Amino acid sequence: MTVEAISGNIKEQSSLGANRVLEVKDLRISYETPRGLVRAVSGVSFFLKRGERLGLVGESGSGKSTTALSLMRLLGPPAIIEGGQVLLEGKDLLKLSEEQMRRARFADIALIPQGAMNSLNPVMKVGEQLRDTMRAHAFNEAQSALNARIEDVLDWVDLTSDIMDAYPHELSGGMKQRVCIAMAILLRPKVIIADEPTSALDVVVQRQVMETLRRVQNDIDASVILVGHDMGLMAQCVDRIGVMYGGKLVEVSPVRDIFKNPQHPYTQMLIASLPNLESKEVFQGIPGLTPSLLNPPSGCMFHPRCPQIMAHCEVDVPTLNEIKPDRWVACHLYDDKVA
Ligand SMILES: Nc1ncnc2c1ncn2[C@@H]1O[C@H](COP(=O)(O)OP(=O)(O)OP(=O)(O)O)[C@@H](O)[C@H]1O
Ligand SMILES: [Mg+2]
Repeated sequence: MTVEAISGNIKEQSSLGANRVLEVKDLRISYETPRGLVRAVSGVSFFLKRGERLGLVGESGSGKSTTALSLMRLLGPPAIIEGGQVLLEGKDLLKLSEEQMRRARFADIALIPQGAMNSLNPVMKVGEQLRDTMRAHAFNEAQSALNARIEDVLDWVDLTSDIMDAYPHELSGGMKQRVCIAMAILLRPKVIIADEPTSALDVVVQRQVMETLRRVQNDIDASVILVGHDMGLMAQCVDRIGVMYGGKLVEVSPVRDIFKNPQHPYTQMLIASLPNLESKEVFQGIPGLTPSLLNPPSGCMFHPRCPQIMAHCEVDVPTLNEIKPDRWVACHLYDDKVA
């Protein structure tokens, strides 16, 4: 290889790297339980581009929240992070001290947790909770200056400043959810993780809240990881989708491609099982049981439910590979496409 080719290669790689705000590499997390180790996340790797919205979908228990919480280092016992890297602009969050990580939360990476509206402190006024978040990041400004900043952010999420004097129980679900979004964007983080941010809301409010999240994300130029079950909502809100199964990513593809031409048999079944609006079919679900994470199946996690199973699927663990540009799949059906 010539020097020019090598330097061209390095340039290409580093510009690729620069485009990735977050890179998760081989993340492995277990929960210690009396019955043994529950392998909740088993070697998850993905990246998030600047300004991108990535959806994480998968059946209940597939490891979505465990992944989301680990990116913020918010998992406590019985969870054990067994390995991997969470690189935010190249800096491994898993290696930061507690104090460094405390500073990074909200300022660099923020989470709207699952059931976020119940995460607000019930005995504290909304304004005080928002001011606390800012003060925790050394904004030693006068109360009036803090309030002005907070009012700006509330305005972004379509709330009026009078809610600062309200307690959470005085607000509707949609309003509480907007407060959680306001909290997450207060310090303009580079990455926002939203874990099922609207699942407790009715459909109309869900769409409105998602629209707000999308708008503010755009305004502050943040990237978003959106965790959810609702493929319809995902289709409208994200650029790429990562499908999780049994603590692993089985497919990561641009949203259009995944609906039109799903590659992994699990994704194919997931898309085929979506209710069709015209025929008003009921959601069928996918036949078979989700895998035990205490005693996971050998080889490919999906082999016991897979309609396209081959002999070596019971033995060999498939890895996530880019089988064509921007399409990542972990399935032996595509072994011949892997360089
Ligand atoms: N504290 C815990 N102790 C033991 N096992 C746990 C604990 N929390 C989660 N798990 C297990 O880890 C696995 C992944 O759970 P996780 O909450 O990440 O899934 P999820 O994809 O977010 O599911 P949902 O769609 O229901 O929110 C599940 O098998 C779950 O039972
Ligand atoms: Mg969850």
